[in-house]
Amino acid sequence: AIDPNFETNREHVGEEDGVAVWGPVEPPDKQGIRGTHVAVDFDICLADGACLEDCPVDVFEWVETPGHPESERKASPADEDQCIDCMLCVDVCPVDAIDVDPG
Ligand code: SF4
Ligand code: F3S
Repeated sequence: AIDPNFETNREHVGEEDGVAVWGPVEPPDKQGIRGTHVAVDFDICLADGACLEDCPVDVFEWVETPGHPESERKASPADEDQCIDCMLCVDVCPVDAIDVDPG
């Protein structure tokens, strides 16, 4: 499962399309965690898609990760600012790749 303390335990290595990237990032095998309020561990996500289907405010969008061992696309929390903290995505992800921190 995603580490809920990733902001402490990982290094903020940059942004991609306005979404924070937390390392380590070593493509294609290591893609890191993306997002802050809504965070997705790209190395755990296997492109199930339930988060994209179920989020009531369409926070997620697909990004391509060619060559990653789990899946070649990932759910990026592109519109995490819109999140209403319903926690549905956390509940439906089959591999616990998502952390939402209402803080
Ligand atoms: Fe969307 Fe709810 Fe997840 Fe926020 S907590 S990203 S609103 S499904
Ligand atoms: Fe990935 Fe889980 Fe969404 S596997 S696509 S973060 S439901």
